[in-house]
Amino acid sequence: MKKVTVNQLQADTYIDAPVYLDQKYILLSPETPITKELLDRLEKWNYEQVLTDGLPSDAPPASGGVNSEKSMLDQDIKDHEAEKQATEFFNTMVKKMDDIFSHFLDKGLIYHDNVIELAKEIMEELKQNKRFLLSVYIPERKDVHYVVPHAVKTAVFALAVADLLKLPPHKQIDLGTASLLHEIGMLRIPPTVYQHDRQLSEKERQTIIAHPVISYKILKEADFPPTVCIAVLEHHEYVNGTGYPRKLKGDDISLFGKIVGVASAYSAATSKRPFREGHDGHTSIMDLAKEMGKRYDERILRALVFTLSLYPIGTYVLMSNGARGVIVKTDPKEPKHPLVRLLVNENNTPYRDRPIVQPKDNDKVVIERPLTKSEVKALKQYIQQ
Ligand SMILES: [Fe+2]
Repeated sequence: MKKVTVNQLQADTYIDAPVYLDQKYILLSPETPITKELLDRLEKWNYEQVLTDGLPSDAPPASGGVNSEKSMLDQDIKDHEAEKQATEFFNTMVKKMDDIFSHFLDKGLIYHDNVIELAKEIMEELKQNKRFLLSVYIPERKDVHYVVPHAVKTAVFALAVADLLKLPPHKQIDLGTASLLHEIGMLRIPPTVYQHDRQLSEKERQTIIAHPVISYKILKEADFPPTVCIAVLEHHEYVNGTGYPRKLKGDDISLFGKIVGVASAYSAATSKRPFREGHDGHTSIMDLAKEMGKRYDERILRALVFTLSLYPIGTYVLMSNGARGVIVKTDPKEPKHPLVRLLVNENNTPYRDRPIVQPKDNDKVVIERPLTKSEVKALKQYIQQ
C-alpha cells in the first residue's frame, strides 16, 4: 500500500479504497467521507501519514463499496446459515444412528427401514448442501460411541463419491446402508481393547481385526442384501492384498467394499480420538493419496480427492506471497485449484472485502500449504480482534 501524508487529505472528499491507519486498523472505508474532525484528530494523535491503494474522489463509489460489502455480507450470512444447517443435519443423523445402534445393543435388532431412511436423507442433503456437509466440523462427543459419528461421516463421504461415479440411486442406498453399519461389529468389542495410546498386544490386534467379520455376521443374520454384507466384510481389504480378513487383491474386492474402505479411512483420519488429535482434511487426503494403488483403489481415491479437492473446504491456507485465507469452494473438475477466500494480505492486514480467488499453477500467487493448527488459532484470534 502507498503511504499518503495526512496533509494531502482534504475534508469532504473520499478515497476509493480502504484507508488504513497502520498495517492493521482501517481508518476509512470508500463510502465514508474524510471529515474535518477526522483530520483534526489525526493531527492531535501525531499521525503524519496513512496507508491506502486508493485515489482521492469527490463522491463515494456508486457501486462496489457499499454494494459489494452488502453482497459479501449476504454471502457470509448464507454461508453461515448453510454451515449451521449442515451441523444440525449431522447432529440429527448422529442421534438417529445412535438410536439404531442402541436398539441393536439392547434388543439385538436392526430395523432395515430406519437405516435405509438415513441413507436416503444423507443423499438428499448432499444434493442440497454438499459443500458444507463435506466440511462440517464435528467436535469430539463423549456422549456417543465413536463409531456413531464415524458411521455418519463415512456415509457422507461414500455417497459423495458414489454421486461422482454416477451410481444409480438404488445402489447408493445400499452403499449408504453399508457405510452406516460397517463398524457395527466394533460395538461387540470392549472399548478397553482399543481406547488407549499404547501399542496393541497381539491378542488385542486379533480381536480388533475380527470386526469386519463380526459386522458381516450381524448383517447377514439380519437379512441385509448380500452386496451390503460383502461391503462391510471387505472394508479393510487393500488392493495390494495386505488387508484383512481375506487378503483379497484388486478387483476381487467389491466396488462397495473399496468405497466404504476409502470413506472410512478418510473419516477416521479427520476424527479426534481419545488418544490422538484428528488431522486436517488436507493432511488426511495427502496421507491417503500416498497409498493410492497400494491400499486404495485408484479410481475410488481419485473420486474422493476430486470431491473434496486436495484442499478440502474449510482448510486454512498460506499463499505463496504470505497472504492467508480459507478454502470456500472446490471444483471437482480442478481438484488442485479450489477457491480461496483471502482473509489477510501479504502484509498481514485483514482484508475488508475478503476477495475470493482461484489460483492456478502458473499464477504469480499460488496456495503454498495448509496452516498448522497453531497458525489457524492465531489467525482466527487476529482477525476477530
Ligand atoms: Fe473398520
